[in-house]
Amino acid sequence: MCGIVGYIGTRDAYPVLIKGLKRLEYRGYDSAGVALLNGDTTIYKKKGKVSELEDYVRGKETKSTIGMGHTRWATHGEPNDVNAHPHQSEKGLFTIIHNGIIENYSVLKKTLMDQGMKFYSETDTEVLANLIEYIYTSEDVSVEVAISLALQKVVGAFGLVAISSEDPNLMIAARRSSPLVIGLGNNEYFIASDATPIVEYTDRVIYLNNDDIALIRRDELILKNLVSETTKVNIKTLEMSISEMEKQGYEHFMLKEIFEQPRSIMDTFRGRIQTETNEIRLGGLLDVKDQLVNAKRIVVIACGTSWHAGLVGEYLIEDLARIPVEVEYASEFRYRNPMIGPDDVVLAISQSGETADTLAAIQLAREAGALVLGICNVAGSSISRETHAGVYTHAGIEIGVASTKSFTAQVTVLTMMAIMIGKEKGLLSEQRFSQLIKELYAVPAKIEKILELNDEFKRIAEIYKDASNALYLGRGVSFPVALEGALKLKEISYIHAEGYPAAEMKHGPIALIDANMPVVFIATMDGSYDKIVNNIQEVKARNGEVIAIVTEGDTIIREMADHVIEIPKSDESLVSLTAVVPLQLIAYHIALMRGCNVDQPRNLAKSVTVE
Ligand code: G6P
Repeated sequence: MCGIVGYIGTRDAYPVLIKGLKRLEYRGYDSAGVALLNGDTTIYKKKGKVSELEDYVRGKETKSTIGMGHTRWATHGEPNDVNAHPHQSEKGLFTIIHNGIIENYSVLKKTLMDQGMKFYSETDTEVLANLIEYIYTSEDVSVEVAISLALQKVVGAFGLVAISSEDPNLMIAARRSSPLVIGLGNNEYFIASDATPIVEYTDRVIYLNNDDIALIRRDELILKNLVSETTKVNIKTLEMSISEMEKQGYEHFMLKEIFEQPRSIMDTFRGRIQTETNEIRLGGLLDVKDQLVNAKRIVVIACGTSWHAGLVGEYLIEDLARIPVEVEYASEFRYRNPMIGPDDVVLAISQSGETADTLAAIQLAREAGALVLGICNVAGSSISRETHAGVYTHAGIEIGVASTKSFTAQVTVLTMMAIMIGKEKGLLSEQRFSQLIKELYAVPAKIEKILELNDEFKRIAEIYKDASNALYLGRGVSFPVALEGALKLKEISYIHAEGYPAAEMKHGPIALIDANMPVVFIATMDGSYDKIVNNIQEVKARNGEVIAIVTEGDTIIREMADHVIEIPKSDESLVSLTAVVPLQLIAYHIALMRGCNVDQPRNLAKSVTVE
């Protein structure tokens, strides 16, 4: 949530900042701003997209080799020019940009107001800027010490970059819970909330740890903790390319990412399946494999689309590995008193690896003594570092706010985990094991075939683009696919959509069905095929409009449904990987036809780094 970029070096800072903000815009996009330090600090900020900021700044003075920029997703205070970052302290001595939430901001604000300080915005960030300035002026300390003392008083999360006209060759970055990465160049440093603005300048990076403060000058970087002790700098190499961050000819990132799925699934299983020895080898889990295989229970924690992948995982692990699985919303798990202990394996699933609720739930599970594993897409992310062990999805960077290729990559990892455990426990015969592997290998080609139907999805989208509501129904492993289909539609097209287990339809949603209600069934040929055929008839009997995802060659449902989408036959366990693709594309086309911003839907952000 919110993007941060900072630069200190020898080149012009402003172009670096604007380019960086454009790369980060997927993290938040209600307002943006930059601060440039050239003796004095100049701030430009504007409500709206980064391009609006760019138009506003055009022709104005931008000369500076130190600066920082921010793209915002509002938490405190509506999106407007005043609430946009950067924020400056009252006397203008300190300028900061900040991700996260200062939870005790109202107490701090009151104390500072009692001292006569004035505030102009409604943000918690301005409180922090004023607190730093207050400490600096009243305690007569250095810029660095004022910032550490202020941060010691803060309750909450921060990814912070600060500059001060009092020490104009210094940039300070600090983090607690909200990620920051520093790129190391030649007499120059790049700071950002993720590596996307950095990758074109350097592949040498440092990920800040909680309560790290980085003191950055053009020729040196010193890392300290909050109590000013120097800490070790751990330089990592970035594995990311610039072309990954471009649309590569697609109209939108979401479309590109949907079409990338054959490759991203393949990249996720490649090298992990040893066909010669009939083995699945998940390198990141080797040290904990016995504990995982012998787990009495697995508790999955996740949010959003990752939670849906977790539901598919529940089905797969219980079916193939016979371990009971519970799937919890991370936000719910952390705020009740969950029964978790050393006998449990907790599995956190997250694309970004930065979701605040998932991170907090991991912390809680660790404190309770559970083995905590992760499935993450972003290498080096907080979740990948806070878990005991884990597996990366190799989906590549995902920029569209609505998650697509991450879902299928997460399901691919969960499929491999379930098969691996089932095999280790002797539950899968050699023949069943080989059959599942063969099926997994076949998924990318099946998705290619589905993608060829894109014009058909467009045609269906045209028919239903003006719907006000939609219902998505599935059974078994197709139920989470229904949830995911509904989520895709509502998040990018703003059509209200619900996902339901098909049989539950009779306990409520059936009351909504009329001729204006598209009902999407995931009705592939599996164990509950006959039941779902009955459900389709029930909807048709009430004049509902049925769009059915069916197995190639199905003639029965073709007779009943208004539209059928045929997908290649696959093993029931793997059907979510293919069945979700038409739903992603239908949502995409509907959103586009309704004039919505597909890659940056209103009010949403790619990664929710606040509670
Ligand atoms: C946000 C995103 C979703 C994502 C969810 C969980 O809501 O918009 O696309 O599924 O966060 O994010 P994570 O990075 O933990 O998978």
